[in-house]
Formats: sequence, C-alpha cells, structure tokens
Amino acid sequence: RCQSFNTDKQRKSNRNLLDNASNLLTNFLSGGSIGSMPIAEGAVTDLFGRPLFFSLYDWFLEHGSVYKLAFGPKAFVVVSDPIVARHILRENAFSYDKGVLADILEPIMGKGLIPADLDTWKQRRRVIAPGFHASYLEAMVKIFRTCSERTISKINQHLEQEGNDGQKLIELDLEAEFSNLALDIIGLGVFNYDFGSVTKESPVIKAVYGTLFEAEHRSTFYIPYWKVPLTSCIVPRQRKFQSDLKIINACLDELIRNAKESRQETDVEKLQQRDYLNLKDASLLRFLVDMRGADVDDRQLRDDLMTMLIAGHETTAAVLTWATFLLSQNPDKMRKAQAEVDSVLGTGTPTYESLKKLQYIRLIVVESLRLYPQPPLLIRRSLKPDVLPGGYKGDKDGYAIPAGTDVFLSVYNLHRSPYFWERPDEFEPERFLVQRTNEQIEGWAGFDPSRSPGALYPNEIISDFAFLPFGGGPRKCVGDQFALMESTVALAMLLQNFDVQLKGTPDSVELVTGATIHTKNGLWCKLTKRSNLH
Ligand code: HEM
Repeated sequence: RCQSFNTDKQRKSNRNLLDNASNLLTNFLSGGSIGSMPIAEGAVTDLFGRPLFFSLYDWFLEHGSVYKLAFGPKAFVVVSDPIVARHILRENAFSYDKGVLADILEPIMGKGLIPADLDTWKQRRRVIAPGFHASYLEAMVKIFRTCSERTISKINQHLEQEGNDGQKLIELDLEAEFSNLALDIIGLGVFNYDFGSVTKESPVIKAVYGTLFEAEHRSTFYIPYWKVPLTSCIVPRQRKFQSDLKIINACLDELIRNAKESRQETDVEKLQQRDYLNLKDASLLRFLVDMRGADVDDRQLRDDLMTMLIAGHETTAAVLTWATFLLSQNPDKMRKAQAEVDSVLGTGTPTYESLKKLQYIRLIVVESLRLYPQPPLLIRRSLKPDVLPGGYKGDKDGYAIPAGTDVFLSVYNLHRSPYFWERPDEFEPERFLVQRTNEQIEGWAGFDPSRSPGALYPNEIISDFAFLPFGGGPRKCVGDQFALMESTVALAMLLQNFDVQLKGTPDSVELVTGATIHTKNGLWCKLTKRSNLH
C-alpha cells in the first residue's frame, strides 16, 4: 500500500497532469530548485481502523520527514521534521492559515483566536496574550489549588464510603475526574464562572460536553455534511448541537453583561498595578473588559471565551490522564515523584513559589506531552506557493507546494522521532535535564536551555522545534503556562494524597482521537490513601 516514488519513472506514472502543472507553476513562482516529494498512498480504511496519527508515524519511518499522503483525489503534505516545522510555524507563518481546522471550528468558535482570519487574529492576539502575564498566573495558582482540593475531597469521600476497615481502596475513572477538574478551572480562570462540575451536573455542563463531543465528531468525520442547508434543523445530533450552543452562548452573554456592568475604576487600578492577589475577580474576562473599557464587541468577546473554554479544557485533562497512565506503569518514577512532593510540600499545598521546586513533577508533565501531544497534529493550509525546506534526510533542494496545499504537521511523529530523541517511546522525564549539542544534523540547533533563560518548562525554543507541545511562532498557544502550572498543581496534589494503580492492563486502555488523544472507555484506576502521609 505504501510505496516510495523516488525515481523519475515511478513519479511519471503516478502523478496526474494537473498536479505536475501546478507544481511547475509553483516552481516558477518560487524560483526554488525542486526535489521530488515521497508519496504514501492511504487506503480509506486507514481513516477508521485506528487513530490516523499511528499510520502517519509508520509512513514517516518509511518515507521520511516530509511526504505526500494521497487518499484518492485528496492529498496532504505530512511534516515530521523540526526544520520544516520551524519554517511553517515561525519563519513563514503568515503564508499559512488553519485550513480544514478553521472550517470545522468556525461554527463553534466564530472569530476566536484558533480559527480566526489573519486580520481578526492580529487584533485579538494583541489584546488577549498580555492577559496571561505573571501576576495573573500567580493568582490562578490559588484556583488550581482550590479546584484540585475539591477533587481530592471527592475521592476521599468515596474512600470513606466504599472502603472497608482493612483496606481502603476505590476504583475510579480518573479521566472523567480530570475532565471535571479542568472544566472548573477554565471556567473560573477565564470567566469567573464556577461550573462546579466536580460535584454536580447542570444543563450548562451538559451543553459544554455536548459541544466538545460535536467538535470531536466534526474533526474525525471527513464529509462536512453539517454545512448542507437545513441539516441543523433535520439531523438530530445537529439540532442538539445548536441547542447546546444556545445554552452556552446564553451563559457567556450573561457573564459578559455582568462583567461590563460591574466594571469599577478601583479594579482597573489594581489590574494596571498588577495587584491581582487583592482582586476579587482575577479572571481573564475581567482583564479584557476592564483594560479595554466598554469598547469591546460582545460577539467577539463571546467567541474569545468559547475558544479558550474549548482549547483549555480537554487538552489539560488529557495531559493529566496520560501523566497518570505513564506513572502507573513506572512505579519507580511514581515513587520518585511522590518523594519530591513530600519533600517540597510536606502536608501543605502548592504555591506559585513552590512550583519552581517541583522540578520532577514539571518534567513529568512535559514528558507526558511529548509522548501524548494534544493535539497530535497541527493543521495548516498554504495561502500562497511556498518551498518547504527538505528537512533532515530530505531533498536538499526542498519541496515546492502550491497555494491551497493542506499540511499536517505531526507533532506526534516529531516527539517520537528516532532521529531527534534517544529511546523515543520510553517515559523518561529526566531526558530534559540532559543538554544535547548537535553536530550531525545540519540546520537543527540541538537542545539548549540557555536559549530560553528562566523558562520553568522545556519548550520549542530550547529544542529548536523538536518539541512542540504548544505549537510555536506567532500562533503558539496563549495558555501554555496556565496549562502547565495547572497540570503541575493537580498532579502534585493527587500524588501527595493517593497511591494510584491501573485497574486493568495497559493494553486495555484503548486510544481514540479527536482533537486530543484520549481513552476509549476511561482511565480506570485503583486509588488508596497514602499511608505515609505526614
Ligand atoms: C493554541 C496546545 C491549553 C488557549 C494552541 C496550540 C497548541 C495548543 C498546540 C497551537 C495550535 C496551532 O498552531 O494550530 C495546548 C495544550 C494545552 C493547552 C497541549 C494544555 C495542556 C490551553 C489553555 C488555553 C489555551 C489553558 C486558554 C486558557 C489557546 C488559544 C490558542 C491555542 C487561544 C490559539 C492561539 C492563536 O492562534 O493565537 N494550544 N493548549 N490553550 N491555545 Fe492552547
């Protein structure tokens, strides 16, 4: 099924005329010297049998770090190389938009940052990104802690009820618990709304999950039938989606109205002085409304909030899920993590300052993101003809692509590339402590923490785009530090309180993907209260 077409003869027989003509035009326009891109041909069954990113990995090993994937008439360029990723995400970022992803997300997020057109994006990014500054994050740590405490006390209550005198143990789907926890945190941190989902169910929570479910369905369903007129009235799941959106929008509209009506000059002063710890409401919405006055368009604000609600919820829940999964299979690392938590926190709770000392927990979080990146693929479409660098082991002349080319940047492949990582499939948080200079790979600068001085967590700059947990370049995640600190606090508090074991075998935890990698039937674990709690 997968063949490499590197010879002229093979190439001629497998490319159609139109493709050649468009490539010729691109070559002419770009003026580059063009190599031949390897081609993998997919069967439609590849789209359904298992997560697509697994097949993309096999083809990466077979065809190299830039290849063209053809599914019948549809073709994508698949990139698994830091040099090419750097080109697309940073050096030539504005020659690309979000393509298919924007088509899918626009009905949900409107003109929010992720699907936004370039003009809207430029305006909103300038306004939103400053909201995530250090004082805001410091204030958020309190929210991370309070919400994690709720989860811990819920588990403790279960233990009290279900445990017997001899052994107190409960079985719990931790993925569901992490999802509730992340929803509560994003609600409070972004728009000061307490979903309270750790302890209750409500129509708004149900609507949020319904919308996420639909976003996921759309990202894995390859025919956008929901665009056909009247489907939103006729198809039951589309009708439900519309009604879910209505519920969330009504909730967000009310929050925006309240935030605008309760705007107070004293709060504005505190915000200006970055006096977040003395603010009653330190949410991002407060910042956006107060610092910009009444001139913010409500519709745009709603799109921004909805985008952050969706972007910041499942992703963080997934990090916690896979970190727990990985630790459960590496008991020595679990013990090492618990020893660190005990020595840094004792019986206390994490603070902004103590996060700096929880180095091993931080490394566990980033190593989990390396092995299970959320999302596993970044999606782009070229707005104009471009020449991609050949990348590591690729054609030195690079590859010309015409305008309108759909690109899958496989973060999963990059993070597990045998060319850039030692023992790429192993869970080794310690790997980020080893500095690696690079002489062998032309065009790639190796790992060097001094490139990002003061960074609490390894990032794309330190790794020169070999590690891309939050993307890179101008469209990099705005919530990266929020998410990393949130995950560190929640994981530290879980490990401080409980010993966690997987209920079944690791193989029984099946993977599924939509926007994120999650489990098919939950992460069922056995939890016991730690006996050596001080
Ligand atoms: C963008 C990952 C948490 C808000 C992105 C991108 C990635 C990412 C990879 C880049 C997408 C691309 O280039 O196509 C993650 C992960 C998270 C996380 C792994 C959790 C572990 C959050 C949180 C928020 C957030 C907590 C908000 C509070 C956003 C926004 C964008 C974005 C608004 C779009 C940025 C832009 O285009 O300017 N995220 N994210 N994310 N993320 Fe996150």
